[in-house]
Amino acid sequence: MLPAIVSDLVSRTALLSRLRVLLQLLRHPVTYPHWGPLIPSRHLWVGPRDPLVHFLRWPWEYRAYLILLCELRRDSSVLELACNHGRTMLGLLDYLCPPGRYEGLDILPRQIEFARREITARFPNFGFTLANVSNPAYGGSGGTDAANYRFPYADGSFDVVYAASLFTHLLPAAAANYLRETRRVLRQGGRALFSFLVLDDYRGPGTTIGEWYRFDHELEDGVAVQRADLAERLIAFGRHRIEDMAQNAGLRILRILPGYWSNTHRAPVNEQDLILFESS
Ligand SMILES: C[S@@+](CC[C@H](N)C(=O)[O-])C[C@H]1O[C@@H](n2cnc3c(N)ncnc32)[C@H](O)[C@@H]1O
Repeated sequence: MLPAIVSDLVSRTALLSRLRVLLQLLRHPVTYPHWGPLIPSRHLWVGPRDPLVHFLRWPWEYRAYLILLCELRRDSSVLELACNHGRTMLGLLDYLCPPGRYEGLDILPRQIEFARREITARFPNFGFTLANVSNPAYGGSGGTDAANYRFPYADGSFDVVYAASLFTHLLPAAAANYLRETRRVLRQGGRALFSFLVLDDYRGPGTTIGEWYRFDHELEDGVAVQRADLAERLIAFGRHRIEDMAQNAGLRILRILPGYWSNTHRAPVNEQDLILFESS
């Protein structure tokens, strides 16, 4: 009897607090008014069931990382790989000013179509391009293998390149190619910031922040995956593999900022590990 009353009370309290949040949302705007059309309906989101605050973390975290770590200026040119529908870039809308510009690249046609229609139409210095590449974990528009894909930009045309959770879904040959292409499109001395999952920090099942982060299937030396039958679902690279790929691409690793996914660091920054590169 008592547990039933308690659970009834708990669910009433939860309902009331949800209603209170709903009322607040109706009375006060939850994002900047001009962001309204720039946030797509949930079926296009990376995580359709994510709370809005989780969605909104990304633009602000990446704005700070790009300015503090990559020295992004208001007139810089910046390329985002795996931009999806344009989420992390929302924090750059009132930062970059022409000739400052942003380019986003992704393999998902509907998301890129949305970004062009809603974002580029209002902010012409923010462009989006569909890459003719597919990824078994995401779908995509087919065509070229990511391991051979050439970014559709001129040599040395960007000051900064970044990607949030892309190298966590690329097989080694594709990751190596994307690092080489990054070097090609970066100007001399330009910086890149990519999130990775550094395998060295993985201590086995049950040690990470969630079941999702499991790397018990070795793909090859220094590379392990969450699912043997769908490697691109989630991939972790050993530090030595990342260092080798960077060196072969002509990129120097400036810093590795550990993330909290692995539960191994006392002062982690992002959920994933962030690796800062400079073109050498
Ligand atoms: C976890 S989501 C992250 C999306 C985005 N960075 C964000 O945080 O909002 C991974 C993204 O990588 C993209 N992707 C996967 N393989 C790709 C490839 N070979 N080239 C470019 N994008 C790719 C997917 O389409 C998807 O948008």
